Parts: sequence; C-alpha cells; structure tokens
Amino acid sequence: MLPALAINAIVMMAAALVLWLAPELVVVTPQAEAHLAFALGAMPLILAAIVYFVPVLTRGAGAPSWLGALPLLAWLGGVVIIAGFSGTVGLNAASHAAAIFAGAAAFAMLLWTVRRARAALGAPHPCLAWYLAALVFLAAALLVVPAMALWPEQRGALRQFHLHANLLGFVGLTAICTLQVLLPTAVGRADYQARARLSTDLKFSCAGVLLLAFGAALAVPGMSIGWSRHVAVLGAVLFMFAPLRMATYWVAAYCETIASLHGAAASLSLACLGLIGLMFAGIGHALGFLAGRDAVVGFVLAFLLPLVSGAATQLLPVWLRPGMQGEWHYRLRSQLGRLAGLRALLMVCGGLAFAFGWHQGIWLALAGVAILARAAGPAVWYATNRGPFQR
Ligand code: HEM
Repeated sequence: MLPALAINAIVMMAAALVLWLAPELVVVTPQAEAHLAFALGAMPLILAAIVYFVPVLTRGAGAPSWLGALPLLAWLGGVVIIAGFSGTVGLNAASHAAAIFAGAAAFAMLLWTVRRARAALGAPHPCLAWYLAALVFLAAALLVVPAMALWPEQRGALRQFHLHANLLGFVGLTAICTLQVLLPTAVGRADYQARARLSTDLKFSCAGVLLLAFGAALAVPGMSIGWSRHVAVLGAVLFMFAPLRMATYWVAAYCETIASLHGAAASLSLACLGLIGLMFAGIGHALGFLAGRDAVVGFVLAFLLPLVSGAATQLLPVWLRPGMQGEWHYRLRSQLGRLAGLRALLMVCGGLAFAFGWHQGIWLALAGVAILARAAGPAVWYATNRGPFQR
C-alpha cells in the first residue's frame, strides 16, 4: 500500500504542476488543483506513513490490517472534494461527504495512535507526540469544512484556518519529525541530539501553527483585526524554530553528504531549506507584499516534491522488500537517488521563485520532475525484472 501511495502522491503533484503550467489543458479551479496535490496526494500518503511508523516508535506489534483502509477512505474524501470543486457534484454536499470520509479516517487514526502510545513499552519515541499533534491539526482542519457551508459569511476566515492548519499543522509537523529520523538514516550516521530537539521544539511548532492559523483567519477582509497580521508573523517565526535548529545541526554534522549531487539525503535536506524559504514567503504574504496562492503552489514545488521523492528514494526499497537489507536494496536506492541533489535543487529554486512572485520558476521545477522521471524509469525496470519478491 505505502509504495503505491508514495507513487500516487508524486504523480498527483506532477499532475497539479502540469495544470498550473498549462491551465488551458483542462479548465479546473485553483482549489481543485490544490486538492489534487494535497487531498489526493499528500494526505493518504502521510496517514499510511503514520500507520507504518507508529508500531516502530512504540516498540509494539504491527498495525492491524483494517487500519490500511483508513488512508484509502481519506483518498476517497479527496476524490469527492475535487468532484465538488470541479462542479461535477454540488460543492456543499461534496464538502460534507468528503469531510466525513477524511475526518473519520483522521479520528480513527488519532484514537489508535493514542491507544498505542499508552500501551508503549517504555517511553515512546518523541516523534509520536508530533504525529499525534499533526493528526489533531488535520481533524481540526476538517471540522471547519462543514462550517464553511453552514456560515458562508465566515468562509474566508474558516478557509484560512483550514489551509494553515493542514499545510503547516498536519503536513509540516509530520514532515519535520520524520525528517529528524529519516535524514540520519539516509546519511548512515546517528543524530544523538534529535530526541532532545524533538522533545523541546514541539511546543514552539504547535504554538506557531496555532498563532499563524488564527492570525491569518482574523486578517481576512471584513474581519481584519488590527493586530492579527502580527500574530500570524509571530506564529511563522515560532514555527521556523524547529526546521532552523534541525538544518543548523545537519550542516555541522553531515555537510559533505547533504551537499551532494546524488542520494536521498541531499533531497531531504533541500526540502527542509525549501520549507524555511516558504516561511519567509509566508511572512511577505502576511505583510501584503506577496500573493497567498503563489505560496500554495510553492509549497508543493519547493517542499513536498523534494520531500516525498527523497523519502521514497530512501524508503521504497525497504517497503518493497522488507527484512534484511542487501545488494538489491542498495542498487535500487542508488538508481532512485540518481541526481537527487540536482533535481531537488531545481524544485526548491523553482518553487521559491514562484512563491516570491516569479512564475516562470515553475519551469525549473518541471526540469527537476523530468530528472526524477528519468531516474524512476530504470529503477522501475530493475525492481520489476529483479522483482521485489525474488530473492
Ligand atoms: C478531503 C478533505 C478536504 C476537504 C473536504 C477540504 C475542503 C476545502 C474547502 C471547502 C476549501 C475552501 C475553498 C474555497 O472556498 O476557496 C478548502 C481550501 C483549501 N484547502 Fe482543503 N480540504 C481537504 C483537505 C485538504 C488538505 C489535506 C490540505 C493540505 C494538506 C488542504 C489545503 C487547502 C488549501 C491550500 C486551500 C486553499 C485553496 C485555494 O484557495 O487555492 N485541504 N479545502
């Protein structure tokens, strides 16, 4: 399931990129394009990754098989809301149904993660608290969706809360804590400070998301409370604390591996750089210099694409053939990671350029995706001909 959802996420983001590049190809609303990448791509993948990692973090038994259905339920929610945004079905009905599907998946996952945390052998890894917080933000973001239909006059403010709680609370928190564990694995050297950083930084990140989401919601026209923009900017500064501390440590400890042309580590560290850059773009948007929708596109190009492609480079071989790691895993990983540093650099530069208002930057990101596709071809051939299930 996880490999399929990882590939699905990359394909959905690439499809959204093509639609942003050539809007005349298929006429769809910006909301449908955004949800192609987020609700159909990122959300089911993140939920499936949480199902995969929670038993590891709690040192418990594997996840029950029914849990695998939850990311698919969320995916179905994504299909329904896109149908609503593109006018195939009524938007209000689609919003209610999609929020029920995805919200049920988020709540069930939340309850299961809490139970697993309570039953953990010893203290669970601090990453678990980040996953719990991320699921709470997803649930809160989905709860306000029916409210948009019920209180149309508050739609603007609720939309701001929904998108910030989702992008930074759900996606951002999951990404930051997973990166703290995944990058040292990709580099092949432990990070002995990661646990302490994760324990200290969670409160700053959560406070940052809350201030940002409420500050942005209160800053919409009609609501426009004087200090709301300052609250949002304060939130952005607090949110940047964790990725900045993580990046500083990486530069000091792993500089020679992350500044490389190839490999998952280069892509993952560039995704972190992309996230920090996007926070500056967000501040520019809060202060009225930049367009908010550009930051949504930039989020996919400069952060999600290098993050998901880098994580897939590192983890796909393990997901396809779990157990003892050998030559097969090494060869597949190095094929997937071919020019990963260069492709991620193009995605991050293109995405940040877009977020800062230079829309031609999207071509750079497209070049990055083309390099990714070029690496994926031989890797798929290798994985199918020297199949994942052949020993
Ligand atoms: C199936 C679950 C979801 C539902 C039902 C849903 C529903 C909605 C609705 C009704 C809006 C307001 C549209 C408008 O009036 O302009 C919206 C906007 C938005 N949502 Fe979601 N959403 C879902 C999942 C997500 C996820 C997982 C993310 C991000 C990770 C996300 C990010 C956004 C963004 C960025 C916007 C603003 C789009 C724009 O105006 O360009 N949504 N969503």
